[in-house]
Amino acid sequence: MKVIGIAGSPREHSNTEYFVEVALKELQEQGIETEIIRLREKRIHPCIGCYDCVTAKMCTLEKDDFDEVFDKMVEADGIIVGSPVYNSSTPADVKALLDRAGFLSRWISNDMKSKSDSYDWKGTAFSGKVAAPITVARRAGQNFAFAELLLWFTVNDFIVIGSHYWNVGVAGKGGAVDADNDLEGIGIMKHMASNMAHVIKQLKK
Ligand SMILES: Cc1cc2nc3c(=O)[nH]c(=O)nc-3n(C[C@H](O)[C@H](O)[C@H](O)COP(=O)(O)O)c2cc1C
Repeated sequence: MKVIGIAGSPREHSNTEYFVEVALKELQEQGIETEIIRLREKRIHPCIGCYDCVTAKMCTLEKDDFDEVFDKMVEADGIIVGSPVYNSSTPADVKALLDRAGFLSRWISNDMKSKSDSYDWKGTAFSGKVAAPITVARRAGQNFAFAELLLWFTVNDFIVIGSHYWNVGVAGKGGAVDADNDLEGIGIMKHMASNMAHVIKQLKK
């Protein structure tokens, strides 16, 4: 049983990473193996819409760190995507990963149909995995970024895990790394992680 946490902040010391770590620690305490992937340490180019993955069943963009991260996502039972809020949205690094991972995951087990044919989806590379978003903002725009992540999970056949509130952290005024002050946010992340551990254990029975 393994969960990977993707920390999508480009900053070395970030509030997003703090909240992702809170969730991963809770999962560890509940017997789940975890690994954090810091996108700031990875180079992932944006999707260029070449559609090569439809037939190649792999991403044919020039070599970067995408394959390594994608393979870890496919191996995991659960994925937490943590993203700072940039102008009410996810930053470019997070978007680049999710665009490529989502599109590739779909075509690995499916073929594109011509206009008149209907789809009989055989699932994605993420089918049956559990997932949860975490967004972190100083003040506003949480709902839009959070919804972006939820929409990505739900179009890619993940089972989404909730908490007793949305998994949003409030931190970062003036660039501060002060997520440890957001006690409510910390509680929300822990509860989400506890729910995730519970669901993974049930699915693995
Ligand atoms: C380019 C940029 C855009 C931002 N846009 C928003 C925003 O729309 N709403 C908000 O509340 N905070 C915004 N912030 C503040 C960050 O969301 C906040 O500082 C958060 O803690 C960043 O996460 P990090 O510490 O993980 O990098 C922005 C920060 C940057 C650098």
